[in-house]
Amino acid sequence: MKISILGTGYVGAVTGACFAELGNSVVFVDIDPAKLDLIRTGRSPIFEPGLDELLGKNLKRISATTDTGEAIRETDVTFICVGTPSNPDGSIDLQYIEAASQAIGEVLRQKESWHTVVMKSTVVSGTTAGIVQRTLEEASEKVAFRDFGLASNPEFLREGSALADVFSPDRIVIGAEDPRSREVLERLYSSFDCPKLVCAIPVAEMIKYVSNAFLATKISFANEIGNLCKLMGIDTAEVFEGVGLDARINPAFFRSGIGFGGSCFPKDVRALIAQAEEMGVLPKILQSVMAVNEDQPMRLLDLLKKHIPDLRGKRIGVLGLSFKPDTDDIRESRAIPIVSALLEAGADVIAYDPLAIANFRSLFPDISYASSAAEVLQSDAVLLITEWKGFEVLDYAGKIVIDGRRVPKAAIGSIYEGVCW
Ligand code: UGA
Repeated sequence: MKISILGTGYVGAVTGACFAELGNSVVFVDIDPAKLDLIRTGRSPIFEPGLDELLGKNLKRISATTDTGEAIRETDVTFICVGTPSNPDGSIDLQYIEAASQAIGEVLRQKESWHTVVMKSTVVSGTTAGIVQRTLEEASEKVAFRDFGLASNPEFLREGSALADVFSPDRIVIGAEDPRSREVLERLYSSFDCPKLVCAIPVAEMIKYVSNAFLATKISFANEIGNLCKLMGIDTAEVFEGVGLDARINPAFFRSGIGFGGSCFPKDVRALIAQAEEMGVLPKILQSVMAVNEDQPMRLLDLLKKHIPDLRGKRIGVLGLSFKPDTDDIRESRAIPIVSALLEAGADVIAYDPLAIANFRSLFPDISYASSAAEVLQSDAVLLITEWKGFEVLDYAGKIVIDGRRVPKAAIGSIYEGVCW
């Protein structure tokens, strides 16, 4: 199959490389020539384990261009993978989706052969059948489903394990309402042996949001129960081990701690809240999920102040800056509100992260950055923010450690408090 990928951010880069690995020829399109130069030489524009190798291995099937017209004319299917940032009110900003739809539509006006447009970016339900379809039809002067195909195919990739998630998915969701678009996506995924759900386009879009919102709900629930268990002297991890053994519940995403970050959960829950409110529904559960998540990192500070009531001039070590291990991504990382609060309280912050220092430095240029995790231990107290493997082997003996992620080694010989344990 000949596939074009619009947008070479996280989703586009991973999706395109994986489609190439499946034997398709893939044209990457982006407005940023630097990203395309990287792709052309088999290097990934984003950090994701294994992606450089996958791009390098499939270079003969990969090309890259800033010219959307050329990419669409030369391919049969286009995946829209552009970003959907948040507006200040939590709703998603569709300007890149609209621009991509407009650009595709203008090319489709001249294109005679059948072309299928697939929405891969995460968009609130109704976006594809609304603004995308409308923009494509107006720009192309053609009719969706009759003159060109339109479908939704959400991704369920986790940063750090995205390639495994693409090649061994729990399910593939195909939102397709015309037989040709459905056939294109079924053919593309024919080698996958997993449940494939074919549904209406708005259902596919909603499945993506509800999956992320439910996982975020599990985390905030585990954190609320964790806060209670800590006060009761009960081990919250053991509680959730027992709860998760119920096959109806499942143990995943029940790790209590300082909450969820990343480019997806916070943004998607907020967008669902905004959509619900717009529809006149009061999303009480989703609002609480976000409220618990915002409070949780501050608990770490409260616990620290129990040991050091006045943080002014105190050297506080921060271990971990990325929103989770194995990524350099700091978007919505819990380290951001924690470091801000430490600075506000007058603390002297020294931080370390195996990958995310460069990104964090752009937000916090004035804190100190250590060249090793061990260096961070030379401080008045240490906060554990991200559970990087390397932090499990440090010697925390004699230190004050406040743990947001449950690193068992940190409790040995130290003055130790876990956020929920
Ligand atoms: C998430 C989803 O897991 C993917 O399925 C989805 O495709 C993706 O968002 C997306 O929408 O594109 P990701 O953001 O990479 O993937 O990260 P997760 O591994 O889900 O972790 C999210 C956050 O939850 C992290 O900050 C992590 O530390 C936190 N978390 C996770 C917990 O606090 N407790 C848990 O038990 C699990």
